[in-house]
Amino acid sequence: MIDCPRSLLRPVVCLPAAAALLALALSADAAAQTVPPSSAPANPVATASTAATVPASSMASRVLACTACHGKEGRATPDGYFPRIAGKPAGYLTNQLLNFRDGRRSYPQMGYLIEHLTDDYLREMAEYFAAQDLPYPPPLAPQVPPAVLERGRVLVRRGDVARNIPACVACHGAAMTGVVPSIPGLLGLPRDYLNSQLGAWKTGQRRAHLPDCMADIARQLTPDDVSAVSAWLAAQPVAAGGKPARTLPAAMPARCGGVAEVPVAAAAAR
Ligand code: HEC
Ligand code: HEC
Repeated sequence: MIDCPRSLLRPVVCLPAAAALLALALSADAAAQTVPPSSAPANPVATASTAATVPASSMASRVLACTACHGKEGRATPDGYFPRIAGKPAGYLTNQLLNFRDGRRSYPQMGYLIEHLTDDYLREMAEYFAAQDLPYPPPLAPQVPPAVLERGRVLVRRGDVARNIPACVACHGAAMTGVVPSIPGLLGLPRDYLNSQLGAWKTGQRRAHLPDCMADIARQLTPDDVSAVSAWLAAQPVAAGGKPARTLPAAMPARCGGVAEVPVAAAAAR
């Protein structure tokens, strides 16, 4: 039902079907919770046309609506705008679902799907996607001159002390695959998505829990910095299967809301 052609129009075309599926999955859950334990589990999903492919009342049926945009199992492709969600740290995904539901981020076509869901429900969906272990496709070839890529690389790897820009790897990890449980990786994301997120932080359209370290960092970046960083990041292959790290080599250069202090590698090894 939601296997629409791969095109940028896909989410728009598929949305009504996707929303209907989520509503169905939600009402199935609600129904399952209200039947007495002794009776056979009532499950409207089992009678729906999706029953043949999706195990009734499983998490997979709950999240069918999400895969219309985020790809099967949340694995998006690099040729569009939709961020992959498969394999990202669970705490990060939970924070984002809360951010969308509570208005710190906005994407109305997605937001209305989750506006009435509870914290627990959002956390369960986040854990489901975080547990997906799927390979990353190779990156697309960069479309910018080598000097721009080099500027991006230096900012990500070293930052710019004179302009108060910390190295991105100081928090996102040397492999840039993020750190459990709440810092996302920076690889395997489309260039347009990266540009848009950094731009949204600069203008205040995207916000995180306070203190919003990324807002402070994004405001230090010029538009040219943002283009350079996004172009370089989007051109990197994903190392280590994209698995988030557990430690950082040094303490984070700033505090970030919703993120526990990450253990430093040397201390953690003891
Ligand atoms: C209509 C398409 C669409 C649907 C359906 C959709 N999303 Fe999204 N989602 C997006 C887009 C686009 C973004 C990025 C929005 C932005 O610019 O910040 C996003 C962002 C996210 C993020 C943040 C990713 C990150 O790296 O920060 C999470 C988590 C997420 N979606 C989960 C879900 C879940 C769970 C569902 C199902 C309940 C869902 N989405 C349904 C389009 C969609
Ligand atoms: C002080 C730690 C820290 C530093 C340094 C840092 N980040 Fe982040 N970054 C975070 C945290 C924490 C988040 C998650 C914020 C949230 O919960 O929304 C994040 C999120 C992001 C995201 C969103 C990813 C997604 O999937 O939507 C991007 C893009 C990003 N950072 C880029 C950068 C870049 C580029 C730099 C270097 C110029 C950088 N970050 C430096 C902590 C940091």
